[in-house]
Amino acid sequence: MNKCKIISLGFVLLGGASLAAVSEQENVTLKGVMQGLLKSNLKLNESIVLQNFSAIELAANQIGHHPKPDMKIRMQLVKNMGTEMGQFKSMDNVVHNAALAIEAAAKSQDMEQVLVQYSTMIKGCQACHGKYKKRVAEIFK
Ligand code: HEC
Repeated sequence: MNKCKIISLGFVLLGGASLAAVSEQENVTLKGVMQGLLKSNLKLNESIVLQNFSAIELAANQIGHHPKPDMKIRMQLVKNMGTEMGQFKSMDNVVHNAALAIEAAAKSQDMEQVLVQYSTMIKGCQACHGKYKKRVAEIFK
């Protein structure tokens, strides 16, 4: 389950940023990825309330670098999303980029910026759920 292999393919459908090496885990469902995001988000929220910058940094990093679903699942997603895959991916990027910005803001102990980026991030979660969650859940049920 936790066997990690590094691939340097251009498959960066969820979460990744470039064509660089991507960490690939086996047997990860999209739902599993999402449950991990929820956990990290709860931790992030708690850390913000407690003004614990190092914990904010860690939780934001986990969100920004969440594992990807299996290749098989990603291929299925691409097939079903068709031309909308680009939009799905760009919504994923909103969350990805905001999470990295939270991490950077926490590093410089800038709570104001943490909150600005947190707002962008959580809206990003909601935007994708509002548009795609139901439809995608149908594919993988
Ligand atoms: C690019 C789209 C997208 C983004 C961005 C996104 N999600 Fe999701 N999320 C989904 C989809 C699609 C599902 C339904 C998956 C399924 O049922 O197989 C889902 C489901 C979930 C679920 C329900 C899992 C379950 O057990 O049924 C949680 C919790 C969740 N997401 C958390 C988050 C959090 C937290 C964020 C932001 C940090 C986030 N998601 C960002 C697409 C997205």
